[in-house]
Amino acid sequence: MFINFWYAAQWSDQVGSQPLKLRMLGQDFVLWRDGSGVVHCLANVCVHRGGSLAGGRLRGDCIECPYHGWQFDGDGRCRKIPSLGPQGQVRIPGRARVDSYPVQERYGLVHVFLGDLPEEERPPIMEIPEYGQPGWYASCEDSVGQGDFRRAVENGLDPAHNEYVHPTHGFSGTRADYFVPELNIEEQAWGSGFITTYFSPPLKDARMQQASGRSENAVIEAGTFHHGPSCMITRIRPTAEFAINQNSFKTPIDELSSRSFLIQTRNFLQGPEHDARFRERNAVVRNQDVVVLADLEPKFTPETNAHELLMPADRAVARYREWLKDWEARGWRIDTARVARERPYKTYVIPGPARRAEPKGWVLDAVPLVAAHAAGATDAVARQV
Ligand code: FES
Ligand SMILES: [Fe+2]
Repeated sequence: MFINFWYAAQWSDQVGSQPLKLRMLGQDFVLWRDGSGVVHCLANVCVHRGGSLAGGRLRGDCIECPYHGWQFDGDGRCRKIPSLGPQGQVRIPGRARVDSYPVQERYGLVHVFLGDLPEEERPPIMEIPEYGQPGWYASCEDSVGQGDFRRAVENGLDPAHNEYVHPTHGFSGTRADYFVPELNIEEQAWGSGFITTYFSPPLKDARMQQASGRSENAVIEAGTFHHGPSCMITRIRPTAEFAINQNSFKTPIDELSSRSFLIQTRNFLQGPEHDARFRERNAVVRNQDVVVLADLEPKFTPETNAHELLMPADRAVARYREWLKDWEARGWRIDTARVARERPYKTYVIPGPARRAEPKGWVLDAVPLVAAHAAGATDAVARQV
């Protein structure tokens, strides 16, 4: 898992004045919306003696720890320590603060920047250019999936599984002339991907045939791009006129589970009355992937490509692994093995931007990170496949 990216935390309309406890990147956070409508996100562990802030209540624009009533503002600064009494409040120590994280609301989602980069260096939130544009409609759904988020992203970047895993996308290996066309990897600022063609049968359901705009076998243009370690857009063109984009904001809950916020944008069958059939369809496809992904070995994406045999159709997967290595080289990868080993004895927090300016004076340690190193020094993931 990686710090220094924006992660979707929750749908905007689900965040109100009731404190919300959310686990992301293996740590807990508390979110709430203040009286002026601004959403705040703090590390959830109270620096007094480990209370869970989300279990408390709002007092004005502060959150009050349920254990001894310390109050923290949206910047994470402690504003009140009740046990010091009214006169003692001048003695609130500077270390009485928790990490606070930048928040942005976009596309109906609350996005939280989990890391310590200053604003100008932060990778951007994944963009959905057509969102809210005339001629486009967006529907939303979310799901929790088990397994390494990297395996799930790799599955999205893998054009060869469609023929076998999704009977509605391919022919289950019955075509003698099946092959995956040469993949042209397209680079973007924070990820890469491809657009390719698939020869696909029509969808079985008559309503979905109508929805996809075709009732015959057809060559379909589709492709997937990742943005950062866990966001992904799959672009599907069922016909020349129809377009569906599956904009997936995936947020690791911990190493082996993640939550996906899916914003499907489409330029046909607009309106909420059509959402159910698309959701049904998405669930079927998702579950077909789940069956295969659940049994992958090893559970985690391997650290090197040496013990897998990658083919040209795996090029986008290999390129994604290079990006991960690059972000690891920058020192953004959490040392999850160490965090897990020490968990019952030690609390870590994801470092917020305030730690850059003031590295000292924090009660809790920032999560250990895999040490930054020269890019490419770790392993030859970059091998051409
Ligand atoms: S643990 Fe939070 S106030 Fe004591
Ligand atoms: Fe799939």
